[in-house]
Amino acid sequence: MGAARVASGRAYAPYSNFLVGAAIVTTGGAVHAGCNVENASYGLSICAERNAATTMVSADPEDRQIQMVAVFSPSAAPCFPCGACRQFLREFGCKEVVVEDGSGLRLYPFEEILPNSFGPEVL
Ligand code: THU
Repeated sequence: MGAARVASGRAYAPYSNFLVGAAIVTTGGAVHAGCNVENASYGLSICAERNAATTMVSADPEDRQIQMVAVFSPSAAPCFPCGACRQFLREFGCKEVVVEDGSGLRLYPFEEILPNSFGPEVL
């Protein structure tokens, strides 16, 4: 969550002013963080979680399974991943999601966040 908080401070969100940071922990123990990056053509904006995941993929082809993702926004407690990001994280086997609410960290099994999901093993 610390890495997610730091990443949120680097967000480029001049249109929404909604800063988000995400940090992925891989099953190999690596941490990859990302922030949201918006665009004047609004629809091209990219969420923090997907930026963290693409950083993970580019970093090490041997360590691409997600154990956990932490999401932080100074504007929302808790800040849950959007639907598109849930599916994107699902691709890499994400097992747990951590968010922070008024009373501390909350950990959710991924199956609770995206039940009955579609994934790469189906194809
Ligand atoms: N956003 C994220 O980065 N992650 C989320 O899980 C929710 C939304 C971003 C997208 C956009 O830049 C801003 O927050 C407002 O939707």
